[in-house]
Order: sequence, then C-alpha cells, then structure tokens
Amino acid sequence: MINDKKVLFSGMQATGNLTLGNYLGALKNWVALSDEYECFYCVVDEHSITVRQDPATLRRRARALLTLYIAAGLDPEKNCIYYQSHVSGHAELAWILNCFTYMGELNRMTQFKDKAAKHADNINAGLFTYPVLMAADILLYQADVVPVGIDQKQHLEITRDIAMRFNSLYGETFTIPEPYIGKAGAKIMSLQSPDKKMSKSDENPNASIYLMDDPDTILRKCKRAVTDSEGCICYRDEQPGVKNLLNIYSACTGKTPEEAVAEFSGKGYGELKMAVGEAVVSQLRPLQEEVARLEKDKAYIDRIIKDNAEKAAYYANKTLRKVQRKVGFPDRIR
Ligand code: TRP
Repeated sequence: MINDKKVLFSGMQATGNLTLGNYLGALKNWVALSDEYECFYCVVDEHSITVRQDPATLRRRARALLTLYIAAGLDPEKNCIYYQSHVSGHAELAWILNCFTYMGELNRMTQFKDKAAKHADNINAGLFTYPVLMAADILLYQADVVPVGIDQKQHLEITRDIAMRFNSLYGETFTIPEPYIGKAGAKIMSLQSPDKKMSKSDENPNASIYLMDDPDTILRKCKRAVTDSEGCICYRDEQPGVKNLLNIYSACTGKTPEEAVAEFSGKGYGELKMAVGEAVVSQLRPLQEEVARLEKDKAYIDRIIKDNAEKAAYYANKTLRKVQRKVGFPDRIR
C-alpha cells in the first residue's frame, strides 16, 4: 500500500510502433485504473536489449512511448511514469532473484521458446532470464495488481512463484501480485489476418494501424481490411474480419457491437470500412495532437523523467535494502 492505495505496476517495451490494439487493449484501460491505484508505468528499456536494437532508435522510441503514456491521459504528477534503466534497483533485484529461479522454470517459458526460434543467431542469457527482470520490476514496488495481456500471464505466474519461494525462505518480504485481466471487449485483431492479434511487429504494414498514422493512411488500411464473401454485416465468429471491424468501431465510438450492427443493417462492407476508418481517425486525433504538443515541451518532459525516476527509486530502494539485508549482504555504513 502506498498512500492508502493498492499498488499497480505495468510496463511496455519501446520496440516497434504502438498500434491501435496496444491503445484500445491496454493503454486506454490503464487510464481508467489510474485513480483507483497507486500506479507505476514503466518504459522497460532494459528488456528491449534482449534482442538487438539500434541505439538511436531505441532512445527515440523510449521517449516517444513515455510521451505517449502522458498524452493518453496518465497524469504524470499522480502516476509514476519512468524509464526502467533510470532506476538501478531493477537490475540489482533481478540479480538476486536470478539466484532464486531455476533453469527448469525458465526453460518452460513459451515466450523464450518463441523468441529463441525467431532470433536463433542471438539466444543470449538476457533473453533467457527476461522473466526474472520482469519479476524484479513488479516485486520492487510491492505491486498488488499487474494488468497484462494473455501472452504475459506465464511471466506473472513465475513472478508469483519466485516471490512465494523467497517469502518462505526469508519471511514476508514481497507482496504476491495478482494479474489484472481487463474487462472483455477491445481485443483488436490484424486487419489482414483477423485470426491473429494486431501486433506492432507484424511485417505487413497494412495489418496494423499505428497510433501515429495519418488520416489518409488509416482510411486506406481500413479500406483494405480483409473481410469475407458473406455480404452480411453480422457480429459472429464465422466472420472474423467483419467482427473485428465492428469491435474497432465499438471501441472507438463507445457503442455496443449490437448497436453497430443495427446501424449498418442493409449496408455494404465498403460503408462499414469507411465508417470504421473515420471512427479511428477521430479517436486518434486528440491523442496525436497531444503527443505533438508535448514533444514541443522538452523541459516539461525532462522534468517528469527526472522527478519520476527519483520517486520510483525511493520505493524501489526500500524493497531492495530489505532484500539485501535478508540474503545476508553487509549493512551499509552511514
Ligand atoms: N514483458 C512485458 C511485455 O513485453 C513488458 C513488461 C516488462 C511488463 N516488465 C513488466 C509488463 C512488468 C507488466 C509488468 O509486454
């Protein structure tokens, strides 16, 4: 508990350009939670170097992601929005937790297997211990809840296992975090293969709408979205392309899918795609304008970066000192 509130921790990687799926499925929900919890929203740049990055690009994208958190409506005076690499406690706790995590546990991680297959020329130790760094992120702040997508659930489970193991060896040290699985709804699928999730790493640029796409690009991508030959605007699993378009429309307009179906009854796919495109454009316009405004205010963003890193380090160090003492590191001389 911090200030009588439960603690929420979440993070995103600054690799690739964020998509409409990241926004509607994650970021927008974070904003809704930010009053209820004491929140830490981290740009996890240390995780990013488990695969090779171009340094200038990583730096630019990390700043863009941090700016986007704020533009999306997370108030940086109330929520702690910061870079993982600015708080050394993450790496320090990760080292300690490495010594309480078994090779066998890490070997079972499906994301490691997927990434190792994808980057066969660079299967480094960091990629293998990635979940331990993630556990450190979460446990450092004694987080009660962690909003994550289904692909990160396994990492949250190993976090809980590590925390419970440590607690049973050394006594109550870490809060055991719960996953926060958001309300059903906005799971946004690829526009080109609506059976898979819209992803920032998709190679087909038409598959994803990026948050910074201009209106023409958004309209064009929607126009090219894959549908089917049923010729009926119905909300059902047999028509995944149409269903996805209706979901996007609902998420952007606040209407239910049923209301959307009624609105398009008797109309063609062309009209649906057009309306979806326009709804996305109006959803993203304020966000893009806010990003542009914040990008110009370098001094403000710099101050947020500095102040929030200090705030995060304060809480991180409290946990870290406790853990260092428990495992038997010598006391610091003051
Ligand atoms: N691994 C997460 C992802 O790729 C990002 C992440 C790192 C994270 N540390 C975290 C998410 C801690 C939640 C909590 O999506």
